[in-house]
Amino acid sequence: MRSVQKTIFEISKKGRKSYSLINDETPILNADDLFDKSYLREQDARLPEVSEMDLVRHFTNLSRRNHGIDNGFYPLGSCTMKYNPRFNEAMASLPGFEESHPNSPEWVSQGSLKIIHELEKFMCEIFGMDAFTLQPAAGAHGEFTGLLIIRAFHEYNGDTQRKIILVPDSAHGTNPASAKMAGFELKQVASTPGGLVDLEALKPHLNDNLAGMMLTNPNTLGLFEKDILDMTKLIHEAGGLLYYDGANANALLGISRPGMMGFDIVHANLHKTFSTPHGGGGPGSGPIGVKSHLEKFLPSPRVGIHLDKFTLLDLPDSIGRVKSFHGNFGVLVRAYAYIRLLGPEGLKRTSQIAVLNANYLQEKLKGKYNLDYDTRCMHEFVLSAERQKEECGVIAKDIDKALIDKGIHPPTTYFPLIVHEALMIEPTETESLETLDDFVDAMLDIDKTAHENPDAVLKTPMNTPVGRPDETKAARNPILKFQFE
Ligand SMILES: Cc1ncc(COP(=O)(O)O)c(C=O)c1O
Repeated sequence: MRSVQKTIFEISKKGRKSYSLINDETPILNADDLFDKSYLREQDARLPEVSEMDLVRHFTNLSRRNHGIDNGFYPLGSCTMKYNPRFNEAMASLPGFEESHPNSPEWVSQGSLKIIHELEKFMCEIFGMDAFTLQPAAGAHGEFTGLLIIRAFHEYNGDTQRKIILVPDSAHGTNPASAKMAGFELKQVASTPGGLVDLEALKPHLNDNLAGMMLTNPNTLGLFEKDILDMTKLIHEAGGLLYYDGANANALLGISRPGMMGFDIVHANLHKTFSTPHGGGGPGSGPIGVKSHLEKFLPSPRVGIHLDKFTLLDLPDSIGRVKSFHGNFGVLVRAYAYIRLLGPEGLKRTSQIAVLNANYLQEKLKGKYNLDYDTRCMHEFVLSAERQKEECGVIAKDIDKALIDKGIHPPTTYFPLIVHEALMIEPTETESLETLDDFVDAMLDIDKTAHENPDAVLKTPMNTPVGRPDETKAARNPILKFQFE
């Protein structure tokens, strides 16, 4: 029997409160005196009235009904749900950062500006680029920013006909979406049977209309695009630019750099690779790095140094601001703390273990689940539930639900699109051998149950507060606020 948690409005009782003013004489500001009447509500808002204990229990119980990296394994491919060291949180909570206002004058914000300046330099070093902006608020926002820079570059050179952006058929959905939003036309490039970009399929697109190509490496199949240097040469010779989707950089830290592969623009997902909590739409950060020929187009203001002080500088050819103030500053502090904590050797080890863990799981699972691209993987790999579907009528989604019942977050499912019944698994470097083995046992057990008693898998999840909602309805028509009768 699933237990339904009451909303905070349903436990509300008139007169209960979870605050106390210092004394009865504490002056209460009157909204009528502060705002124009046209801004004021006609009736008081219907707010819940609860005691402090009810309030604490309500939110604690609510948080327990969710799965997070702090309470279980979360192998969500391409999302790098790794452990977020508490050290990062402590640093982001330092009063000097947490309480600083983005409108403070430069002379009181020197510490915050220094963090921005130094983090940009770390990013340049890690990704092999010449300049970075930390403004974009997410990977997709970074992509959009990068594409505006590509557009600005071609317009600056008088190449306004360069309207085509190429994306491989394994690309993440945000790539084509960002390109379209930035006003480009899209062309898809097929992959080879081995899962890499097909250079022959690329060649017909190499002409004066080409604006650039977006690519993630390792790609979304977890495979390293080993022909990357040939690819960048072809794109550059045709006058295009190469954009690196850095969501998969967890495999590369300290080992390889997109700048060396020939990429002109990169984005990094700080909320993945650099260990900021994410999922559920929390604040993210998608900094953009460029090679020197594109630096002048970066969003302004930039943080620079003038007379030994950090200061904000405007760039005349900039594409303009893409985010208020300096981006999601708390996320920047977390990434800064993480990089300083690990250092170059620590970052490299991070990627080495991430790749090792993924290969370990791939080897353990490929006997029971199909592996369409059976080769050494990078930090993630993509299984297929095609065999379970054919043999027992259990599809990838059912395997997800059965995993949830075992306290494990499902892998990324039905992506990339070129793998049928895809289960994309990214264990990350922060999980222990025991956790990886528990996951293997869970996956093998689900496969066994699927063959012996498929109904038992089809009925899952049984142990969760929510069963199988109508996912389309939940996404398209979410009810996000309490409906008063
Ligand atoms: C390969 C890839 N590119 C881009 C993105 C977009 O990043 P964000 O979710 O931060 O917008 C993702 C996120 O899932 C991704 O996996």
